[in-house]
Amino acid sequence: MSHGDIFLLVRIAVLIAVTVFHVVAWKLLGSELSRRKNGFPPRWRGGMGMLFILMALPGVWIVFAGDIPLPSGVLTTATVTYMIWNVLLVLMTLFLFLRRLMHRRLLSGAVERDQRQETEPLPSERQPAEQQRVPAPAVDESRRTFLREGAAGLTIISLGGPLIGAVSRDDEFEVVHKSVRIRNLPKQLEGFRLAMISDIHSGPFMDTSDIDPYVSRINGLKPDAILLPGDFIQNRNEEIEPACDALQKLRAPYGVYGSTGNHDYFADADYVSKELELAGVRMLRNEHAVLDVGGAPLALIGLDDVRSGHPFDTLFRQAVKGLDARIPNVVLCHKPYYLEEASEWGVDLMVSGHTHGGQIVIARVFDAVITPAALISGYIEGLYKLDRTQLYVTRGIGTVGLPIRVNCPPEVTILTLQRA
Ligand SMILES: [Fe+2]
Repeated sequence: MSHGDIFLLVRIAVLIAVTVFHVVAWKLLGSELSRRKNGFPPRWRGGMGMLFILMALPGVWIVFAGDIPLPSGVLTTATVTYMIWNVLLVLMTLFLFLRRLMHRRLLSGAVERDQRQETEPLPSERQPAEQQRVPAPAVDESRRTFLREGAAGLTIISLGGPLIGAVSRDDEFEVVHKSVRIRNLPKQLEGFRLAMISDIHSGPFMDTSDIDPYVSRINGLKPDAILLPGDFIQNRNEEIEPACDALQKLRAPYGVYGSTGNHDYFADADYVSKELELAGVRMLRNEHAVLDVGGAPLALIGLDDVRSGHPFDTLFRQAVKGLDARIPNVVLCHKPYYLEEASEWGVDLMVSGHTHGGQIVIARVFDAVITPAALISGYIEGLYKLDRTQLYVTRGIGTVGLPIRVNCPPEVTILTLQRA
C-alpha cells in the first residue's frame, strides 16, 4: 500500500468519525426538541436537517476535492465557519449528554424515595401519638429543571472555557530537540545545530511583541544556523513589517534562511521576500547556499511554495543547478507532502511546516496525532523517514482560521545533525 493510499484511508476514517458525530448530535438534538412542550415542528426539523448536511459538506469536499484551489477569502470563511460549527456542536452535544445523565440520576433518586415511602408503615400503624404527618412540600419542577440545566451548563463552561483559554495562549511554546542522523556526514558537521520556527502568520493575531519571545529564545539557544520555512504572513503585504521587526534580531554564526509558504503567495511573495532580505533573512527561492563548516560543506536548498503549476520536481531541479550531489543537504519546503519526491532526489533532510501540528488535536496515540488536519495531510508533526531521506514537520508558531490551538503548543525546533 502506497503512502498516498494510507493518506486517503486516514482522511476517510476522520470523515466517517466526523459524520458519526454529526448523526449522534442530530439524534440528541432531535429527541430533545421533540420533548419540548410544543413539539418539534416538521418545518424546523427539515431546516435543521438541511443545516446539518450543509455543515458536514466541507469534510467531504476536503477528502475528495481538497486539492482544487479556492480563493483565500472563500477558504478562510469556509474554514472558520466549519470550525465554529464543530466547536458549537461539540459543546451542545456535551451539554445535552450531561443534562440527560443528570435527569436520569434525579429520576432514579425520585423512584428510590417513592419505593422507600411505600414500604414505610402508615401513620395509623405507628405510635398513636403521631396523629398526622406534615405533608411534604410540592416539588417545584421548574426550579429542578433550572438547577439541572444550570449544572450542566456550568460543567461545560468549567471544562471548555479554561481548556480553550489555556491552549490558546501563544506564550507557552515548547522547545523540541531532535537528533537527525545523516549518512556520510563530515566530522566537522557532527553536532551542527539548526533552529527552526515556521508558520509565523504575522497578522491580526501575531505582531512583533508576539514574535519577540521566540526570537529571544532562539538566540538564547545559540544555534549554528536558523531556518524559517514559510508562511510569514496571513494574506496581506503590510503584515510582513511586524514580522521583520522581530526577525531582524535573530542571530546565528552561519545565518538565517527562509523559503516561501502558500500564505506568502496570498499576498505578493516577491514583496514579502524582499522585505525579509532587508531584515537579514536569506530567502532561498528555488536556489541553494553552501555553508563552509570548518572546511566541510553543507547545502541548504530552499523551494518556493509547491503548488499548481509549480511542481516539486521543477522547483527542485532549478534549486540544485550546479550543486555537487555528494554534499549533505537540508531542504526547506513549506508543505510536507513531498517526501517521496525528495527521496527520489536523494535529499538527506527536508524541513516543513504548513500543518500547524493539526492546531486542534483531539488526542495522541503513540506517534499518531488524532486531528481533523489528518484530512489534509499524512504528515502532521515530527520526524518521518523514507529510505535515506528524513522529513521533519514542525508545528510552527502561528494559527489560521480561529486564533487558538488545542493540545498543540507552538514549537521552536532544534535539529542536531549527527553521523549515521
Ligand atoms: Fe501555515
